[in-house]
Amino acid sequence: MNQRPMTYRLDFDHPPADPVPVFKAWFDEAELLPLPNTNAMYLATVDADGRPSARTVLLKSFDDRGLVFFTNRRSRKGLGLETHHRAAILFHWDALDRQVRVDGAVTHTSDEESDAYFRSRPRPSQVNAWASEQSMPVKSREALEAAVQHIEARFAGAPIPRPPHWGGYRVALDAIEFWQGDKFRLHDRIRYTRQDDGTFVVQRLCP
Ligand SMILES: Cc1cc2nc3c(=O)[nH]c(=O)nc-3n(C[C@H](O)[C@H](O)[C@H](O)COP(=O)(O)O)c2cc1C
Repeated sequence: MNQRPMTYRLDFDHPPADPVPVFKAWFDEAELLPLPNTNAMYLATVDADGRPSARTVLLKSFDDRGLVFFTNRRSRKGLGLETHHRAAILFHWDALDRQVRVDGAVTHTSDEESDAYFRSRPRPSQVNAWASEQSMPVKSREALEAAVQHIEARFAGAPIPRPPHWGGYRVALDAIEFWQGDKFRLHDRIRYTRQDDGTFVVQRLCP
């Protein structure tokens, strides 16, 4: 359970009209936890044949346009998102007894945004983004390392450009739900649903 005082109290009966500052407050508090990867989130997508799948990715930025992560656009998740432009995201910060769920339309980040993030990564991560055909079968560790060496030789002494199939996705905040655990399962939940005019309808939900 939570070992530290929570500094932000969301008033579930009188929630603010904008969920972004709420998410920021919860995210910032999670970042203070003595835990790695508090920006990890579970990303659910649907394949072309309608099968759902989920995996962990890291949140790299967010604002009122949505949540951004980076990946290989030819991976299983990438192919799913290129077909169905929607995703669901889940954060669970157990130590804070909090959960956040998002679902929304998915778009590519701009090339400039993807380039800027790619440039900020360590060179070996840049190499690996080229070398790994993410989600495809690979024969052995040796084959994977040979692919890395091939890419290192290809870009030796030169900056490594972003692979054309690698970049960011932004998941819009079409709906965002905040869940705060409470005693005996009488938890607090509110869901914000974005309207056509950009404002949100807020509803308290039964736990
Ligand atoms: C803590 C953690 C963070 C991860 N972050 C990312 C990420 O930001 N981007 C990514 O492509 N994969 C990330 N992965 C790997 C994915 O979970 C997944 O294995 C990979 O993207 C392939 O998924 P797919 O085959 O469903 O496309 C992360 C895994 C873990 C455990």
